[in-house]
Amino acid sequence: MSQRLIIELNNISKVFGNSYANKNVELKINKGEILSILGENGAGKTTLMRILTGIYSPDSGEILYKGENILPLDPEKARTLSIGMVHQHFLLMDNLQVWENIVLGNEEKILLDKKKIIEKIRDIEEQYSLKVDPEKFIRDIGIGLKQQVELLKLLYRDFDILIFDEPTALLIPEEIESLYEIFKKLRLAGKSIIFITHKLDEIFKIADRVVTLSKGEILGDIDIKNTSKNELINLLFRSGKRTVNPVPDSDFNGHLTISYANVKGKLNIKDLNIRAGEVFGIAGIEGNGQKTLFDLLFKIIPGEKRVVFNGKDITNDIRDHIALIPEDRHHESLILQYDLKKNFLLNSSNLKESGQWGFIQEKRISKKVRTIVNKMNVKVMNEEENMENLSGGNQQKFILGRELLGEKAIIIAKNPTRGLDFESTNFVHNFIIKKRNEGKVILLISTELEELMKISDRLGVIFRGRIIKVFEKADFNTIDIGNAMLGLKEN
Ligand SMILES: Nc1ncnc2c1ncn2[C@@H]1O[C@H](COP(=O)(O)OP(=O)(O)OP(=O)(O)O)[C@@H](O)[C@H]1O
Ligand SMILES: [Mg+2]
Repeated sequence: MSQRLIIELNNISKVFGNSYANKNVELKINKGEILSILGENGAGKTTLMRILTGIYSPDSGEILYKGENILPLDPEKARTLSIGMVHQHFLLMDNLQVWENIVLGNEEKILLDKKKIIEKIRDIEEQYSLKVDPEKFIRDIGIGLKQQVELLKLLYRDFDILIFDEPTALLIPEEIESLYEIFKKLRLAGKSIIFITHKLDEIFKIADRVVTLSKGEILGDIDIKNTSKNELINLLFRSGKRTVNPVPDSDFNGHLTISYANVKGKLNIKDLNIRAGEVFGIAGIEGNGQKTLFDLLFKIIPGEKRVVFNGKDITNDIRDHIALIPEDRHHESLILQYDLKKNFLLNSSNLKESGQWGFIQEKRISKKVRTIVNKMNVKVMNEEENMENLSGGNQQKFILGRELLGEKAIIIAKNPTRGLDFESTNFVHNFIIKKRNEGKVILLISTELEELMKISDRLGVIFRGRIIKVFEKADFNTIDIGNAMLGLKEN
């Protein structure tokens, strides 16, 4: 046995219903390495990590820790073995301070020595360049810092094996960079890091090794240093075409106008016109007004707005005209404890359509849900299944289907492919283009410049709440758009 080997999964299988979420998985984890796990939505990545942290028990196989079988495993036992996970959806108490969250369930003593705890937290923060103030309330800190709190929970107890489920999915570029730095320091300290991701660039930048999963099985176990990007893509996606087909410019009548959208100190948009048959992208560094625009249009926040579609003022019944793809599926779009059918009805116009004479038509709903599942290729057993049993990417595909398969003339999407795998991302891009070619008006807000440049016809750059420049497709290039995003003038 190699000196570095700490954990060995042998022949691990897990069945849900009648399909394998993990099948005969063999995986070795070494001390002081950064291991990434890659695989399509529903491949079984999260399930495997839940097995390793004792949340799920496998149906067969063994897990060796320093050579000894540790099954059956439960979360408490995993903790004593120093195995911990930063979940994609944080488990933090809003009304407690950072330090309290960190020691919650950690300290046996009834009387906590706050000063000592905070001192220890600050020491750890210094060691790993973490930046969260231990005395802040969770409700007052952003996503990036919340993630650091989750990590601090593990470091406070000096965990050796740290698992991250899609840790960069919700972070802005700057936060991603600092997470990478933290990973490197953890590796130096001899910790093992396992992170799930859909982003190839990330793997090339930071990982030592990548394990690819597909339909529950390990396809490859690859040393990054010895593999080119193309080889990796081939290993992952054996199917061929992946590119979006360029489409001829379409010609439709009609347009959406945001006459004005103002929120004091945050947003100042005037006369933004988007034509039917056009994808208008909004690029910008997160925090420059994208969220405010989205919230102003669809939620009740202080501010003023006027939205006109084909000459008609739709400001007050905007949801009846616009299909909406929000980015935070758990807070804004889904109820995880509901099945697919109920989640289908969470879209107000579906609810309106489906209820006649005061009762809901079961059959019609089932049929529509089946259409979504089929068309969007949502991996699910049946429509009675609870949303929480779907993998993250499949939840997103369900929302996309629910919103996009309707007949609304306008689509507004914000980071629609966040958390989606490579193929699903392409699927969504193609879908948006298809809708564009049918003459829909599409506004796409995204933090991924690559995505924007790929599918937008025009691209507006938002900076400090204003659209400061609009690029035509022919003028798209990363440097000019990037400069505009930073508020820099062209040279
Ligand atoms: N508690 C559960 N009950 C039933 N089925 C489940 C449960 N958890 C996961 N599954 C199923 O197991 C399969 C693998 O899911 P998993 O969440 O591990 O995928 P994933 O690789 O993490 O995908 P994603 O990239 O979309 O997050 C999916 O088909 C999912 O629906
Ligand atoms: Mg997952």
